Amino acid sequence: MSGVFYEVPSGETVDVKPFHMAVTGITQHGKTEVLKTLMEWVRDKGFTVLVIDVKDKTLGDPDFAEYPHIPIYMEEVAEPLPLLGLLESDAKMQLKFQFPELIKACQRSRTLVEIRDRLQAVVEGGKIHPVRKDKAEVLLLLINRLIEEIQRVPVSGRLELQKGMINVIGLANQGFSEAYKQIVVRAVIHEVRSKYSSIVTFFDEAHIQIPEGYGSASKDWIKRTIKEGASSRQFLVIADQTLKDVDKDVITQCPIKVFGGQTGGRLEAERTVQYIPVRGDLKAEDIMTLKLGHFYLSTREWTKLVYARPTWLSREEAQRIAKGEVEPDSEEIQKFRARALSFSKELSQVIHEVEIYGEAKTYGEDLQSGYEERLQSLEELVVGVWPR
Ligand SMILES: Nc1ncnc2c1ncn2[C@@H]1O[C@H](COP(=O)(O)OP(=O)(O)OP(=O)(O)O)[C@@H](O)[C@H]1O
Ligand SMILES: [Mg+2]
Repeated sequence: MSGVFYEVPSGETVDVKPFHMAVTGITQHGKTEVLKTLMEWVRDKGFTVLVIDVKDKTLGDPDFAEYPHIPIYMEEVAEPLPLLGLLESDAKMQLKFQFPELIKACQRSRTLVEIRDRLQAVVEGGKIHPVRKDKAEVLLLLINRLIEEIQRVPVSGRLELQKGMINVIGLANQGFSEAYKQIVVRAVIHEVRSKYSSIVTFFDEAHIQIPEGYGSASKDWIKRTIKEGASSRQFLVIADQTLKDVDKDVITQCPIKVFGGQTGGRLEAERTVQYIPVRGDLKAEDIMTLKLGHFYLSTREWTKLVYARPTWLSREEAQRIAKGEVEPDSEEIQKFRARALSFSKELSQVIHEVEIYGEAKTYGEDLQSGYEERLQSLEELVVGVWPR
């Protein structure tokens, strides 16, 4: 029993095997919640889980703030083709006229700084045609911006993964550009591809990494993993609100699709139906009227309407929702979420305090009774109300 998906209206659990997955649904449909349940599910199956959190939130904490984080890992991009994809998506325009100049600057360069210096030399060089100078200046501007951003935050030269655990690389809410996010995803997926097996990599906002109609620095490695990753049990789970901006091939090649509501427009709902291989008489209306946390779960053999259990909900309650006995947005259900949230806030506060006391203790400072008290309340918290 996987405990992720419950069929509507029978309430029976639906089992799938870990594989590449695509998750969609309009804002607030429940994508992030289903991603978290999937993360814990594959981890419990023995996989290493890697989440690259690229989603900037206008309100509140980053999506995966409650999971263990590892340092940002990156490798510079100095090959002309991925670098071109990167600069194009950064500039939001094609740079095909600048490409020859970029190739020249990349020759014999191993870092972005070297590439920058060579472009600088072109711009400052004496006899140079103004058109060539112009192209070099555009590239110089974009590369300078990238170098500044890379130097802003300390990164690790090693992917510090904890095997069999959930690992989050946090790129959210720090003002990173899409180009920067692509460089990190490219480096991480490249590293995972060559060194790890039994690993599932998750990322939201898939249009940044695999845009439709544009290049990106990370696209080639993502496509390679989708095509060849299964033999070494390297899987990707990608999510986005809609399908229209995401590379069609990649979505089509994801064997498992988890498609949620599209209430905004008929067009996107129709597009969603088109991506479902076994669709029977499924219509755009069905996609447009999906309830919170409900998805069409689609494999190459079948499609089922399911309710996805959030991590904070018991299997019994999830089953009741799938059977239609209680609504997912009802107060009765949402109070479980509020309870889980306040529990995890309180827990991390108490852990923090215990750690501070512990540190003070190692330095022989006077503790009075505070430490023992906090330890006591930590124990009570964990024993009394552990949600699962
Ligand atoms: N399966 C579910 N059952 C009940 N409530 C849910 C479920 N999934 C999500 N919710 C509720 O809906 C809210 C939004 O969910 P979530 O953050 O997963 O949406 P999202 O699709 O990721 O949205 P966005 O695209 O804006 O990131 C949650 O805070 C929760 O209250
Ligand atoms: Mg979300």
